Amino acid sequence: MDRIRIRGGNALNGTIPISGAKNAALPLMIASLLTDDTLTLENVPHLADVEQLIRILGNHGVDYSVTGKRLAHDPASGRTIHFNARTIVDTTAPYELVSKMRASFWVIGPLLARCHKAKVSLPGGCAIGTRPVDLFIDGLRALGATIDIEAGYVVAEAKGGLVGNRFRFPKVSVGATHVMLMAASLAKGETVIENAAREPEIVDLADCLNAMGAKITGAGTSAITIDGVTALSGARHRVLPDRIETGTYAIAAAMAGGDVTLEGTRASLLTAALETLGQAGAEITEVENGIRVVRNGNGIQPVDVTTDPFPGFPTDLQAQFMALMTRSQGVSSITETIFENRFMHVQELARLGAKISLAGQVARVEGVAQLKGAPVMATDLRASVSLVIAGLVAEGETEVNRVYHLDRGFERLEEKLSACGAEVERISG
Ligand code: EPZ
Repeated sequence: MDRIRIRGGNALNGTIPISGAKNAALPLMIASLLTDDTLTLENVPHLADVEQLIRILGNHGVDYSVTGKRLAHDPASGRTIHFNARTIVDTTAPYELVSKMRASFWVIGPLLARCHKAKVSLPGGCAIGTRPVDLFIDGLRALGATIDIEAGYVVAEAKGGLVGNRFRFPKVSVGATHVMLMAASLAKGETVIENAAREPEIVDLADCLNAMGAKITGAGTSAITIDGVTALSGARHRVLPDRIETGTYAIAAAMAGGDVTLEGTRASLLTAALETLGQAGAEITEVENGIRVVRNGNGIQPVDVTTDPFPGFPTDLQAQFMALMTRSQGVSSITETIFENRFMHVQELARLGAKISLAGQVARVEGVAQLKGAPVMATDLRASVSLVIAGLVAEGETEVNRVYHLDRGFERLEEKLSACGAEVERISG
């Protein structure tokens, strides 16, 4: 298994190109199931999760081809991938595939809308929490689907097709909002989703669906209206920049010090996180086609943070921000409100010398003057990258094991950091 070795102490100076967003690319790829025409996605990142979803979609009959710049030509540019679901050959998503990636559960929306039936394995728990699917089930039932749970599978049917309705989510869910958007696009009549997720990835999916002929208004607000249509066509759509990758490198620059430009991204995708980072002592400015993050000389200030659905501080940056706070000149508290078990990085950061105590959903982080390199490992994607960030300033060598977590969501991480002066290398085997 590959490892990442970091020798801490170098400032970061240079430019980091930001890739297309994993969490936008995945639902967009799933949307290809809604049409028998070709959906072309540009700026698709090279990530293990994307490859895995291509396999899962292939099981349902989706063909794909890659054109434009490939890795060998221009490693900084995302791929253009054409997806075609002319014939859906199987409406079952088996356990072996769904268990590898939770987002693949989302195929239930388009399969039900287009084929009027779907049998999708329950995704099961995962490292960051129980992550149930009740909101998906309630939402799809509101659109007229009958849903049973049989032997670990969600078996859904909508004889005669889905029918629009008004549905209020009792809790904000990104995935369930994606699924309702896709399902309601092909339902009869109007659907209104209340308490919808407002994440930029929701807006990206709605934009793409509208380009395919859907009639969606209000995406990006908590009330989304979908006027169902009988069929969707193909479209060409560019995946939006990855706000979590942007925030991760912004935090890395704040941690290591230096002057880094994050290219191809937008500050408006992560206003809350950038404001917090500013309070912590980084100077952040919007520049043409990106964001510049500078921290020279001044220390890191403690800042309290609570994760929240968008536009709040993202849970997907919580671990990275905690890494930064381990070096603050004081005490900060970090409260996780989205997932009940998203503190697995705490123990590993402690191995590097961090002082963190946990009480329920709140972590109290007491800044220390120095971290010391050590072998560490993490059990999820964002936790893993928080260890890389800590490694950038830790004295000596830090070795992050189980790099496959990083490969799920960070494209060419070691290259991007090395290009800015960090000593980061991948060790194979
Ligand atoms: C998406 O997951 C992201 N994944 C996650 O990113 C992200 O952390 C999360 O949204 C929150 O922003 C993708 O976009 C592929 P949710 P999702 O449904 O949709 C509860 C990463 O590292 N809930 O918004 O699965 C749930 O347990 C990943 O890139 C129910 O109770 O998250 C959680 O507490 C990790 N019942 C809360 O809602 C349900 O039926 C929010 O989860 C569904 C969710």
